[in-house]
Amino acid sequence: MEKLVIEGGRPLHGVVQVSGAKNAALPILCASLLTDGTCTFRNVPRLRDVETMAALLRFMGAESTVAPPLVELRAGSVSRPEAPYELVKQMRASVLVLGPLVARHGYAKVSLPGGCAIGARPIDQHLKGLEAMGATIRLDHGYVVAESKRLVGATIHLDMATVTGTENLMMAAALAKGRTQLVGAAREPEIEELARVLNKMGARIDGAGTDIIHIEGVDVLHAVDHAIIPDRIEAGTFLLAAAATGGDVFVRDAIPEHIEPLLAKLREAGAELVREDGGVRVRSDGARSLRGTDISTAPHPGFPTDMQAQFMAVMTLAQGTSVVTESVFENRFMHVPELGRMGAHVDVHGRVATVTGVERLSGASVMATDLRASACLVIAALTAPDRSEVLRVYHLDRGYESIEKKLAPLGARIERGRGEG
Ligand code: EPU
Repeated sequence: MEKLVIEGGRPLHGVVQVSGAKNAALPILCASLLTDGTCTFRNVPRLRDVETMAALLRFMGAESTVAPPLVELRAGSVSRPEAPYELVKQMRASVLVLGPLVARHGYAKVSLPGGCAIGARPIDQHLKGLEAMGATIRLDHGYVVAESKRLVGATIHLDMATVTGTENLMMAAALAKGRTQLVGAAREPEIEELARVLNKMGARIDGAGTDIIHIEGVDVLHAVDHAIIPDRIEAGTFLLAAAATGGDVFVRDAIPEHIEPLLAKLREAGAELVREDGGVRVRSDGARSLRGTDISTAPHPGFPTDMQAQFMAVMTLAQGTSVVTESVFENRFMHVPELGRMGAHVDVHGRVATVTGVERLSGASVMATDLRASACLVIAALTAPDRSEVLRVYHLDRGYESIEKKLAPLGARIERGRGEG
Protein backbone atom coordinates (compact mmCIF):
# COMPACT_ATOMS: atom_id res chain seq x y z
CA MET A 1 0.00 0.00 0.00
CA GLU A 2 1.23 3.48 -0.75
CA LYS A 3 1.69 6.34 1.67
CA LEU A 4 2.58 10.02 1.51
CA VAL A 5 5.57 11.21 3.49
CA ILE A 6 5.35 14.89 4.35
CA GLU A 7 7.88 17.21 6.04
CA GLY A 8 5.61 20.10 6.95
CA GLY A 9 6.03 23.62 8.22
CA ARG A 10 6.79 25.19 4.85
CA PRO A 11 4.59 27.90 3.35
CA LEU A 12 3.21 27.20 -0.12
CA HIS A 13 3.92 29.61 -2.96
CA GLY A 14 3.13 29.57 -6.66
CA VAL A 15 0.48 28.41 -9.08
CA VAL A 16 -1.48 25.18 -9.01
CA GLN A 17 -3.78 23.85 -11.73
CA VAL A 18 -7.17 22.35 -10.87
CA SER A 19 -8.17 19.16 -12.73
CA GLY A 20 -11.60 18.25 -14.07
CA ALA A 21 -14.32 17.60 -11.50
CA LYS A 22 -14.61 14.00 -10.30
CA ASN A 23 -18.25 14.34 -9.30
CA ALA A 24 -19.12 15.88 -12.66
CA ALA A 25 -17.11 13.32 -14.65
CA LEU A 26 -18.71 10.24 -13.07
CA PRO A 27 -22.36 10.95 -14.03
CA ILE A 28 -21.26 12.34 -17.40
CA LEU A 29 -19.42 9.11 -18.25
CA CYS A 30 -22.66 7.26 -17.41
CA ALA A 31 -24.61 9.56 -19.73
CA SER A 32 -22.80 7.83 -22.61
CA LEU A 33 -25.13 4.87 -21.91
CA LEU A 34 -28.00 7.00 -23.23
CA THR A 35 -26.76 6.97 -26.83
CA ASP A 36 -25.18 4.56 -29.28
CA GLY A 37 -22.88 7.29 -30.60
CA THR A 38 -19.25 7.76 -29.59
CA CYS A 39 -18.98 10.35 -26.82
CA THR A 40 -15.78 12.33 -26.33
CA PHE A 41 -15.04 13.81 -22.95
CA ARG A 42 -12.16 16.19 -22.28
CA ASN A 43 -10.61 17.51 -19.08
CA VAL A 44 -11.43 14.20 -17.38
CA PRO A 45 -9.35 13.83 -14.20
CA ARG A 46 -6.88 10.94 -13.92
CA LEU A 47 -8.42 9.27 -10.89
CA ARG A 48 -9.09 5.82 -9.57
CA ASP A 49 -12.86 6.48 -9.57
CA VAL A 50 -12.75 7.37 -13.27
CA GLU A 51 -10.92 4.09 -13.99
CA THR A 52 -13.51 2.20 -11.94
CA MET A 53 -16.37 3.81 -13.85
CA ALA A 54 -14.71 3.03 -17.20
CA ALA A 55 -14.18 -0.58 -16.04
CA LEU A 56 -17.87 -0.80 -15.15
CA LEU A 57 -18.97 0.56 -18.53
CA ARG A 58 -16.61 -1.92 -20.26
CA PHE A 59 -18.00 -4.76 -18.14
CA MET A 60 -21.43 -3.89 -19.52
CA GLY A 61 -20.16 -4.01 -23.10
CA ALA A 62 -19.20 -0.41 -23.87
CA GLU A 63 -16.05 0.30 -25.86
CA SER A 64 -13.71 2.81 -24.28
CA THR A 65 -10.50 4.69 -24.77
CA VAL A 66 -9.40 5.97 -21.40
CA ALA A 67 -6.46 8.33 -21.67
CA PRO A 68 -7.29 11.18 -19.26
CA PRO A 69 -7.79 14.04 -19.81
CA LEU A 70 -9.41 12.40 -22.87
CA VAL A 71 -11.99 9.64 -22.57
CA GLU A 72 -14.03 8.20 -25.45
CA LEU A 73 -16.98 5.93 -24.83
CA ARG A 74 -19.26 4.06 -27.17
CA ALA A 75 -22.11 2.24 -25.52
CA GLY A 76 -23.79 1.03 -28.71
CA SER A 77 -23.94 -2.59 -27.65
CA VAL A 78 -24.60 -2.99 -23.95
CA SER A 79 -24.77 -6.76 -23.63
CA ARG A 80 -24.77 -6.96 -19.82
CA PRO A 81 -26.79 -4.13 -18.18
CA GLU A 82 -25.45 -4.95 -14.73
CA ALA A 83 -23.29 -3.33 -12.07
CA PRO A 84 -21.72 -6.13 -10.02
CA TYR A 85 -21.04 -5.91 -6.29
CA GLU A 86 -17.25 -6.02 -6.83
CA LEU A 87 -17.35 -2.67 -8.64
CA VAL A 88 -20.18 -0.99 -6.69
CA LYS A 89 -18.45 -1.69 -3.38
CA GLN A 90 -15.34 0.10 -4.68
CA MET A 91 -17.34 3.12 -5.72
CA ARG A 92 -20.91 4.03 -4.76
CA ALA A 93 -21.23 6.31 -7.76
CA SER A 94 -21.62 3.08 -9.82
CA VAL A 95 -25.31 3.43 -8.96
CA LEU A 96 -25.40 6.21 -11.59
CA VAL A 97 -25.75 3.58 -14.32
CA LEU A 98 -29.21 2.67 -13.01
CA GLY A 99 -31.22 5.52 -14.55
CA PRO A 100 -29.57 5.44 -18.00
CA LEU A 101 -29.79 1.63 -18.25
CA VAL A 102 -33.49 1.46 -17.45
CA ALA A 103 -34.24 4.40 -19.72
CA ARG A 104 -32.44 3.06 -22.77
CA HIS A 105 -32.28 -0.70 -22.28
CA GLY A 106 -35.44 -1.25 -20.22
CA TYR A 107 -33.50 -3.29 -17.66
CA ALA A 108 -30.85 -2.74 -15.01
CA LYS A 109 -29.41 -4.94 -12.32
CA VAL A 110 -27.31 -2.94 -9.90
CA SER A 111 -25.81 -4.09 -6.63
CA LEU A 112 -27.15 -2.16 -3.64
CA PRO A 113 -24.27 0.00 -2.45
CA GLY A 114 -24.77 -0.72 1.26
CA GLY A 115 -23.23 1.46 3.94
CA CYS A 116 -19.90 3.18 3.52
CA ALA A 117 -17.32 4.88 5.69
CA ILE A 118 -19.25 8.14 5.94
CA GLY A 119 -22.75 6.78 6.60
CA ALA A 120 -25.59 4.48 5.58
CA ARG A 121 -26.30 6.33 2.33
CA PRO A 122 -29.48 4.64 1.06
CA ILE A 123 -30.75 5.05 -2.53
CA ASP A 124 -34.48 5.02 -1.77
CA GLN A 125 -35.02 8.34 -3.57
CA HIS A 126 -33.45 7.03 -6.79
CA LEU A 127 -35.80 4.02 -6.66
CA LYS A 128 -38.87 6.03 -5.70
CA GLY A 129 -38.30 8.29 -8.71
CA LEU A 130 -37.86 5.41 -11.16
CA GLU A 131 -41.01 3.76 -9.81
CA ALA A 132 -42.93 7.00 -10.29
CA MET A 133 -41.79 6.87 -13.93
CA GLY A 134 -43.27 3.41 -14.29
CA ALA A 135 -40.31 1.12 -13.60
CA THR A 136 -40.90 -2.03 -11.59
CA ILE A 137 -38.28 -2.48 -8.92
CA ARG A 138 -37.44 -5.63 -7.02
CA LEU A 139 -34.62 -6.67 -4.77
CA ASP A 140 -32.82 -9.86 -5.66
CA HIS A 141 -29.94 -11.17 -3.53
CA GLY A 142 -28.52 -7.73 -2.74
CA TYR A 143 -29.23 -6.39 -6.22
CA VAL A 144 -31.81 -3.87 -7.37
CA VAL A 145 -33.49 -5.05 -10.54
CA ALA A 146 -35.37 -2.31 -12.37
CA GLU A 147 -37.42 -2.91 -15.50
CA SER A 148 -39.62 -0.84 -17.75
CA LYS A 149 -40.72 -0.92 -21.40
CA ARG A 150 -40.53 2.84 -21.69
CA LEU A 151 -40.34 5.19 -18.74
CA VAL A 152 -43.09 7.77 -18.53
CA GLY A 153 -42.55 11.31 -17.26
CA ALA A 154 -43.80 12.07 -13.74
CA THR A 155 -43.70 14.65 -11.00
CA ILE A 156 -41.28 13.45 -8.34
CA HIS A 157 -40.91 15.08 -4.94
CA LEU A 158 -37.51 14.26 -3.49
CA ASP A 159 -37.39 14.03 0.30
CA MET A 160 -33.86 15.42 0.35
CA ALA A 161 -31.66 17.15 -2.18
CA THR A 162 -29.72 14.04 -3.22
CA VAL A 163 -26.97 14.70 -5.74
CA THR A 164 -26.63 11.31 -7.47
CA GLY A 165 -30.39 10.75 -7.03
CA THR A 166 -31.14 13.93 -8.98
CA GLU A 167 -28.57 12.92 -11.62
CA ASN A 168 -29.93 9.39 -12.01
CA LEU A 169 -33.50 10.64 -12.42
CA MET A 170 -32.51 13.45 -14.77
CA MET A 171 -30.77 10.91 -17.05
CA ALA A 172 -33.72 8.52 -16.88
CA ALA A 173 -36.25 11.28 -17.59
CA ALA A 174 -34.25 12.53 -20.58
CA LEU A 175 -35.44 9.46 -22.56
CA ALA A 176 -38.84 9.01 -20.86
CA LYS A 177 -42.11 9.65 -22.66
CA GLY A 178 -43.47 13.05 -21.69
CA ARG A 179 -42.63 15.58 -19.05
CA THR A 180 -40.88 15.01 -15.72
CA GLN A 181 -40.65 17.47 -12.90
CA LEU A 182 -38.05 16.91 -10.15
CA VAL A 183 -39.11 18.89 -7.11
CA GLY A 184 -36.61 19.38 -4.28
CA ALA A 185 -33.74 18.60 -6.66
CA ALA A 186 -30.09 19.05 -5.68
CA ARG A 187 -28.55 22.26 -7.01
CA GLU A 188 -24.83 21.45 -7.12
CA PRO A 189 -22.75 22.79 -10.05
CA GLU A 190 -22.24 19.14 -11.09
CA ILE A 191 -26.00 18.84 -11.69
CA GLU A 192 -25.96 21.89 -13.95
CA GLU A 193 -22.96 20.41 -15.76
CA LEU A 194 -24.74 17.10 -16.36
CA ALA A 195 -27.80 18.97 -17.67
CA ARG A 196 -25.52 20.91 -20.03
CA VAL A 197 -24.08 17.67 -21.41
CA LEU A 198 -27.50 16.02 -21.75
CA ASN A 199 -28.88 19.07 -23.53
CA LYS A 200 -25.91 18.98 -25.92
CA MET A 201 -26.92 15.35 -26.60
CA GLY A 202 -30.41 16.52 -27.54
CA ALA A 203 -32.21 16.38 -24.18
CA ARG A 204 -34.67 19.09 -23.15
CA ILE A 205 -33.88 20.00 -19.57
CA ASP A 206 -34.33 23.30 -17.85
CA GLY A 207 -34.11 24.50 -14.28
CA ALA A 208 -30.93 22.57 -13.40
CA GLY A 209 -29.21 24.53 -10.64
CA THR A 210 -32.59 25.32 -9.04
CA ASP A 211 -34.67 23.02 -6.87
CA ILE A 212 -37.22 22.32 -9.62
CA ILE A 213 -35.94 20.69 -12.79
CA HIS A 214 -38.17 20.19 -15.84
CA ILE A 215 -37.32 17.48 -18.34
CA GLU A 216 -39.23 16.97 -21.57
CA GLY A 217 -38.40 13.43 -22.65
CA VAL A 218 -37.09 12.80 -26.18
CA ASP A 219 -36.88 9.60 -28.26
CA VAL A 220 -33.15 9.52 -28.92
CA LEU A 221 -30.00 11.21 -27.72
CA HIS A 222 -26.87 11.58 -29.81
CA ALA A 223 -23.11 11.63 -29.20
CA VAL A 224 -21.43 14.60 -27.55
CA ASP A 225 -18.00 16.19 -27.26
CA HIS A 226 -17.59 17.99 -23.96
CA ALA A 227 -14.88 19.38 -21.66
CA ILE A 228 -15.65 18.86 -17.97
CA ILE A 229 -15.72 21.75 -15.47
CA PRO A 230 -12.89 22.16 -12.93
CA ASP A 231 -13.17 20.38 -9.59
CA ARG A 232 -14.43 22.80 -6.93
CA ILE A 233 -13.47 20.48 -4.08
CA GLU A 234 -9.91 20.07 -5.32
CA ALA A 235 -9.71 23.86 -5.78
CA GLY A 236 -10.99 24.41 -2.24
CA THR A 237 -8.51 21.89 -0.87
CA PHE A 238 -5.59 23.82 -2.39
CA LEU A 239 -6.94 27.12 -1.06
CA LEU A 240 -7.17 25.61 2.42
CA ALA A 241 -3.69 24.06 2.20
CA ALA A 242 -2.23 27.43 1.22
CA ALA A 243 -4.16 29.31 3.93
CA ALA A 244 -3.03 26.77 6.53
CA THR A 245 0.68 26.89 5.73
CA GLY A 246 0.86 30.66 5.17
CA GLY A 247 1.88 31.69 1.72
CA ASP A 248 0.57 32.92 -1.54
CA VAL A 249 -0.98 30.55 -4.06
CA PHE A 250 -2.94 31.13 -7.24
CA VAL A 251 -5.38 28.30 -7.84
CA ARG A 252 -5.84 28.28 -11.60
CA ASP A 253 -9.31 27.38 -12.88
CA ALA A 254 -10.94 27.66 -9.45
CA ILE A 255 -14.42 29.02 -10.30
CA PRO A 256 -15.34 31.52 -7.55
CA GLU A 257 -19.10 31.03 -8.02
CA HIS A 258 -18.69 27.31 -7.30
CA ILE A 259 -16.80 27.82 -4.03
CA GLU A 260 -18.52 30.88 -2.60
CA PRO A 261 -19.38 29.32 0.79
CA LEU A 262 -15.75 28.33 1.30
CA LEU A 263 -14.44 31.73 0.18
CA ALA A 264 -16.84 33.44 2.59
CA LYS A 265 -15.73 31.28 5.52
CA LEU A 266 -12.02 31.64 4.74
CA ARG A 267 -12.48 35.42 4.58
CA GLU A 268 -14.34 35.34 7.88
CA ALA A 269 -11.36 33.45 9.31
CA GLY A 270 -9.05 36.20 8.10
CA ALA A 271 -7.44 34.85 4.92
CA GLU A 272 -7.08 37.17 1.95
CA LEU A 273 -8.84 35.87 -1.15
CA VAL A 274 -8.74 37.60 -4.49
CA ARG A 275 -10.59 36.65 -7.66
CA GLU A 276 -8.12 37.02 -10.48
CA ASP A 277 -8.37 36.31 -14.16
CA GLY A 278 -8.75 32.54 -14.52
CA GLY A 279 -8.74 31.59 -10.85
CA VAL A 280 -8.52 32.56 -7.20
CA ARG A 281 -5.48 33.69 -5.21
CA VAL A 282 -5.12 33.13 -1.48
CA ARG A 283 -2.70 34.75 0.95
CA SER A 284 -2.39 34.21 4.66
CA ASP A 285 0.17 34.29 7.44
CA GLY A 286 -0.66 30.72 8.34
CA ALA A 287 -3.41 28.97 10.26
CA ARG A 288 -2.28 30.49 13.61
CA SER A 289 -3.07 33.94 12.23
CA LEU A 290 -6.65 32.90 11.41
CA ARG A 291 -9.73 33.18 13.66
CA GLY A 292 -11.76 30.19 14.75
CA THR A 293 -14.79 30.07 12.42
CA ASP A 294 -17.95 27.96 12.62
CA ILE A 295 -19.27 25.98 9.67
CA SER A 296 -22.35 23.88 9.16
CA THR A 297 -22.49 21.66 6.08
CA ALA A 298 -25.55 21.74 3.83
CA PRO A 299 -26.48 20.89 0.24
CA HIS A 300 -25.36 23.47 -2.33
CA PRO A 301 -25.30 26.48 -2.05
CA GLY A 302 -24.44 25.69 1.57
CA PHE A 303 -21.00 24.78 2.86
CA PRO A 304 -20.08 21.48 1.14
CA THR A 305 -19.69 18.38 3.26
CA ASP A 306 -16.84 17.42 0.91
CA MET A 307 -14.82 20.36 2.31
CA GLN A 308 -15.67 19.91 6.00
CA ALA A 309 -12.68 17.75 6.94
CA GLN A 310 -10.16 19.98 5.14
CA PHE A 311 -11.65 23.11 6.77
CA MET A 312 -11.42 21.46 10.16
CA ALA A 313 -7.70 20.77 9.58
CA VAL A 314 -7.15 24.52 9.29
CA MET A 315 -9.34 25.30 12.31
CA THR A 316 -7.25 22.98 14.55
CA LEU A 317 -4.65 25.78 14.52
CA ALA A 318 -6.86 28.88 14.32
CA GLN A 319 -7.24 31.21 17.31
CA GLY A 320 -10.10 30.31 19.64
CA THR A 321 -12.90 27.85 19.11
CA SER A 322 -14.70 26.69 15.98
CA VAL A 323 -17.90 24.67 15.86
CA VAL A 324 -18.14 22.31 12.90
CA THR A 325 -21.59 20.81 12.28
CA GLU A 326 -21.95 17.96 9.78
CA SER A 327 -25.57 18.01 8.64
CA VAL A 328 -25.36 15.91 5.46
CA PHE A 329 -23.77 12.61 6.56
CA GLU A 330 -24.13 10.98 9.96
CA ASN A 331 -20.59 9.67 10.30
CA ARG A 332 -18.18 12.05 8.68
CA PHE A 333 -15.77 12.81 11.54
CA MET A 334 -13.38 9.89 11.12
CA HIS A 335 -10.52 12.30 10.61
CA VAL A 336 -10.95 13.58 14.18
CA PRO A 337 -9.08 10.77 16.02
CA GLU A 338 -6.26 11.03 13.48
CA LEU A 339 -6.04 14.82 13.93
CA GLY A 340 -5.96 14.10 17.67
CA ARG A 341 -2.86 11.95 17.13
CA MET A 342 -1.20 15.05 15.68
CA GLY A 343 -2.10 17.11 18.76
CA ALA A 344 -5.39 18.69 17.69
CA HIS A 345 -8.12 19.37 20.28
CA VAL A 346 -11.47 18.33 18.89
CA ASP A 347 -14.52 17.16 20.89
CA VAL A 348 -17.26 15.38 18.98
CA HIS A 349 -20.85 15.12 20.20
CA GLY A 350 -23.05 13.53 17.56
CA ARG A 351 -22.87 15.68 14.47
CA VAL A 352 -21.12 18.61 16.17
CA ALA A 353 -17.36 18.93 16.60
CA THR A 354 -15.86 21.67 18.75
CA VAL A 355 -12.35 22.53 17.71
CA THR A 356 -10.01 24.49 19.99
CA GLY A 357 -7.03 25.91 18.15
CA VAL A 358 -3.63 24.72 19.37
CA GLU A 359 -0.18 26.32 18.99
CA ARG A 360 1.07 23.64 16.60
CA LEU A 361 0.37 20.16 15.29
CA SER A 362 3.10 17.56 15.46
CA GLY A 363 4.00 15.10 12.73
CA ALA A 364 2.67 11.56 13.13
CA SER A 365 1.74 8.47 11.17
CA VAL A 366 -1.94 8.81 10.42
CA MET A 367 -4.41 6.66 8.55
CA ALA A 368 -6.68 7.90 5.80
CA THR A 369 -10.20 6.47 6.14
CA ASP A 370 -11.99 8.10 3.24
CA LEU A 371 -11.26 10.49 0.43
CA ARG A 372 -11.84 13.88 2.09
CA ALA A 373 -10.49 12.71 5.45
CA SER A 374 -7.24 11.93 3.62
CA ALA A 375 -7.08 15.44 2.20
CA CYS A 376 -7.64 16.82 5.71
CA LEU A 377 -4.68 14.81 7.01
CA VAL A 378 -2.46 16.03 4.16
CA ILE A 379 -3.29 19.65 5.08
CA ALA A 380 -2.61 18.97 8.76
CA ALA A 381 0.71 17.31 7.90
CA LEU A 382 1.72 20.26 5.69
CA THR A 383 1.44 22.53 8.75
CA ALA A 384 3.29 20.27 11.22
CA PRO A 385 6.96 21.28 11.39
CA ASP A 386 8.23 17.71 11.27
CA ARG A 387 7.64 14.41 9.50
CA SER A 388 4.24 12.80 8.98
CA GLU A 389 3.10 9.78 7.05
CA VAL A 390 -0.39 9.57 5.62
CA LEU A 391 -1.14 5.88 5.14
CA ARG A 392 -3.73 4.27 2.84
CA VAL A 393 -3.34 6.89 0.19
CA TYR A 394 -5.53 4.90 -2.19
CA HIS A 395 -8.48 6.76 -0.66
CA LEU A 396 -6.92 10.05 -1.73
CA ASP A 397 -6.19 8.76 -5.24
CA ARG A 398 -9.91 8.22 -5.76
CA GLY A 399 -10.46 11.96 -5.96
CA TYR A 400 -7.17 13.89 -6.21
CA GLU A 401 -4.98 13.66 -9.28
CA SER A 402 -1.37 13.11 -8.10
CA ILE A 403 -1.71 15.49 -5.18
CA GLU A 404 2.00 15.23 -4.34
CA LYS A 405 2.95 16.30 -7.88
CA LYS A 406 0.76 19.39 -7.53
CA LEU A 407 1.90 20.35 -4.02
CA ALA A 408 5.66 19.77 -4.45
CA PRO A 409 6.16 22.61 -6.98
CA LEU A 410 4.50 24.94 -4.44
CA GLY A 411 7.34 24.20 -2.02
CA ALA A 412 5.82 21.32 -0.05
CA ARG A 413 8.13 18.46 0.91
CA ILE A 414 5.89 15.58 -0.02
CA GLU A 415 6.73 12.20 -1.51
CA ARG A 416 4.92 9.00 -2.25
CA GLY A 417 6.37 5.86 -0.74
CA ARG A 418 5.46 2.29 0.01
CA GLY A 419 3.88 1.85 3.39
CA GLU A 420 2.40 -0.65 5.75
CA GLY A 421 -1.33 -0.87 6.65
N1 EPU B 1 -29.93 10.02 0.95
C1 EPU B 1 -31.00 9.23 1.32
N2 EPU B 1 -31.68 8.55 0.33
C2 EPU B 1 -31.33 8.63 -0.99
C3 EPU B 1 -30.24 9.45 -1.35
C4 EPU B 1 -29.56 10.14 -0.36
O1 EPU B 1 -31.34 9.11 2.48
O2 EPU B 1 -31.98 7.99 -1.82
C5 EPU B 1 -29.22 10.80 2.00
C6 EPU B 1 -27.76 10.35 2.14
O3 EPU B 1 -27.65 9.22 2.98
C7 EPU B 1 -27.12 11.60 2.69
C8 EPU B 1 -27.89 12.73 1.99
O4 EPU B 1 -29.11 12.14 1.56
O5 EPU B 1 -27.32 11.69 4.07
C9 EPU B 1 -27.19 13.34 0.79
O6 EPU B 1 -26.64 12.33 -0.02
P1 EPU B 1 -26.49 12.45 -1.59
O7 EPU B 1 -27.35 11.45 -2.24
O8 EPU B 1 -26.61 13.86 -2.02
O9 EPU B 1 -24.97 11.99 -1.78
P2 EPU B 1 -24.43 11.20 -3.01
O10 EPU B 1 -25.15 11.60 -4.23
O11 EPU B 1 -24.33 9.75 -2.69
C10 EPU B 1 -22.67 12.98 -3.74
C11 EPU B 1 -21.18 13.01 -3.94
C12 EPU B 1 -20.49 12.93 -2.60
C13 EPU B 1 -20.96 14.12 -1.76
C14 EPU B 1 -22.49 14.12 -1.64
C15 EPU B 1 -23.04 15.33 -0.92
C16 EPU B 1 -20.89 12.03 -6.13
C17 EPU B 1 -20.42 10.90 -6.96
N3 EPU B 1 -20.78 11.91 -4.81
O12 EPU B 1 -22.95 11.74 -3.09
O13 EPU B 1 -19.10 13.05 -2.83
O14 EPU B 1 -20.40 14.06 -0.46
O15 EPU B 1 -23.06 14.08 -2.96
O16 EPU B 1 -22.65 16.50 -1.54
O17 EPU B 1 -21.34 13.05 -6.65
C18 EPU B 1 -16.80 12.80 -2.34
O18 EPU B 1 -16.55 13.25 -3.46
O19 EPU B 1 -15.92 12.63 -1.45
C19 EPU B 1 -18.17 12.42 -2.03
C20 EPU B 1 -18.48 11.61 -1.01
